[in-house]
Amino acid sequence: MAESRSTLTEFAPHVPTSFPIRAVSALRSAIWVTFIQDNPLTWWWQQGRRNYRADMEGPLYVYGAPNREIEPGKAVLTTIDELKASSPFLLQISVRSPKGDPLPNVEIDLWHATSNGIYSYYSYDRRGRFTTDANGNAEVLTVRPGDYGAGGVMRTGHFHLMLHDAERKYDNLTSQLYVCKGNDPSLVHDFLDYLRAQRPQNVLHAWSVPDSNGGEQFYDFQELPANDVATQERIKWWNDKLAEKAADAGLQVVAGGHTEFTLNVKPGVFGF
Ligand SMILES: [Fe+2]
Repeated sequence: MAESRSTLTEFAPHVPTSFPIRAVSALRSAIWVTFIQDNPLTWWWQQGRRNYRADMEGPLYVYGAPNREIEPGKAVLTTIDELKASSPFLLQISVRSPKGDPLPNVEIDLWHATSNGIYSYYSYDRRGRFTTDANGNAEVLTVRPGDYGAGGVMRTGHFHLMLHDAERKYDNLTSQLYVCKGNDPSLVHDFLDYLRAQRPQNVLHAWSVPDSNGGEQFYDFQELPANDVATQERIKWWNDKLAEKAADAGLQVVAGGHTEFTLNVKPGVFGF
């Protein structure tokens, strides 16, 4: 779908949501997701048992997010202005079969809040689709999702994502990736933990690049090891793109994280 790709000049363009899309999305969330799909009484049976990394969808998915790929497997989810305000964060996602083989052509629909914990609903800001490349990998340039809520309904910052195998051989997966300060899982506060078992397997192990952040470890993430040459090369690729397309912004990737999902073979008609 090359024609729907955003360009690096625009980065993730501001695309409004329409009233019918908002209405259908809100109805689906209020009825289907809340009472059926994420129902704590049945979530494990319907979703959780199907994949170790499964998690609840939550009520804020909006249909129809644009394809944000700038190249196969590489997407930009937010604008230069937001990258300036909240610093570039590089999320790397690998998708594998149960045997460990790379899975290309897995469609990923990802949405998350600002670093201040605010979701867009009237636009597709920080919402977008992209597809794993020939090696089963995808990269997303965006900002760190912030915590939101208060008191008993606090949620640690997280990415929401849905994975869908275009060839329909592997089962869909709805998951979340939690981003906590210093990668300390004891800092995860999540009211969903009252509704389903904790998901420590979905805590993202993030890294930082102090040299690109005034010597500071961004959000207390450990420094990316110097011997992780593959990730250093990916960061350089993105830094070169940022320098090429937004030379005056002085932007560099300051942090990121990698996660690997395994998609299971699609179950039979009745889920067995
Ligand atoms: Fe959320």
